[in-house]
Amino acid sequence: MEKDIYILGIESSCDETAAAVVKNGREVLSNIISSQIVIHRKFGGVVPEIASRKHIENIMPVIDEALSEAKVTLDQIDAIAVTYGPGLVGALLVGLSAAKSLAWATDKPLIGVNHLEGHVFANFLADAELEPPFLALVVSGGHTALLKVTSYNSFELMGQTRDDAAGEAFDKIARVMGLPYPGGPEIERLAIGGNPNALVFPVAKLDAPYEFSFSGVKSAVINYLHKEEQGKREVNRSDVAASFQQAIINALCKETVAALKETGYKKVVLAGGVSANKTLQTELAKAAKKVGAELVHPTAILCTDNAVMIACRGYFMYKAGVRSPLDLNAVPSLKLG
Ligand code: KG4
Ligand code: ZN
Repeated sequence: MEKDIYILGIESSCDETAAAVVKNGREVLSNIISSQIVIHRKFGGVVPEIASRKHIENIMPVIDEALSEAKVTLDQIDAIAVTYGPGLVGALLVGLSAAKSLAWATDKPLIGVNHLEGHVFANFLADAELEPPFLALVVSGGHTALLKVTSYNSFELMGQTRDDAAGEAFDKIARVMGLPYPGGPEIERLAIGGNPNALVFPVAKLDAPYEFSFSGVKSAVINYLHKEEQGKREVNRSDVAASFQQAIINALCKETVAALKETGYKKVVLAGGVSANKTLQTELAKAAKKVGAELVHPTAILCTDNAVMIACRGYFMYKAGVRSPLDLNAVPSLKLG
């Protein structure tokens, strides 16, 4: 019988300080997340300097808690996996420094993980039978991309957004509508009971396949709100939220279906914070089914930032013999694929 592999995952790329222990890549032993959302909400978005300071306060207690909840000592850990990009540089450096210090002090391997690949790998915890090749739709606060996962360690970018990320569009529209940060869940809540066909907010049509552009739909919503305000007309906020959300989802579904047809893949996974959106989950599952494919999405807690996904990604890199040097640096604009 093969020896069990325990990976400690560490994540601090944005406003969540997180640590987790995962056994054999698919069994979650602990998942600790210390969220700073309430702190940043006062400012309408993440303040990088405050995020770094909070990470410094939280990182060691969060790691301690992850180990103790997993009932695993540092000695029993086989490798330390940590996000080294993309993200806010000051925030990334806190988790990275902690991981490097622990790796050095315990003489354990360090594995630098791409945060976006981590989001994709959260799906291995949701579907025990998931195996490459499959398609991934990455929809987070900073990225919107279609990715071919051709093996556990190779990825091919099919296309991405030319301007705003899907999550960024949700956050900006939420802010214009006076809703708190982060805007995605607020728009989703407001959209319940709204009519998604009440208003037409056109999404730019691009000549390149598998690419997205959300700045046009964002401006269309903002212009509509201004016009109605100037005309002193009452706006149905639920209809605006539902119609905006629908426009984003339509664009995501259309390109994903085209990519499924092109690749012939039978599974597509959702990855990144926007994957928490229930309407997106339902509509993408329906659209994928029409072309004979199945949608997989992470459980709610693993849709947004966490360290389980980093440990899971780290496990497959560990198995492939990937090790990072102790002078690994943060790469704020680390690319996908
Ligand atoms: O992956 P994530 O937690 O952080 C990044 O790596 O960016 O994604 C955060 C983004 C935010 O833009 C947030 O508004 C969006 O994900 N988001 C949602 C929902 N939950 C989070 N967007 C739409 N619907 C949701 N339910
Ligand atoms: Zn993320």
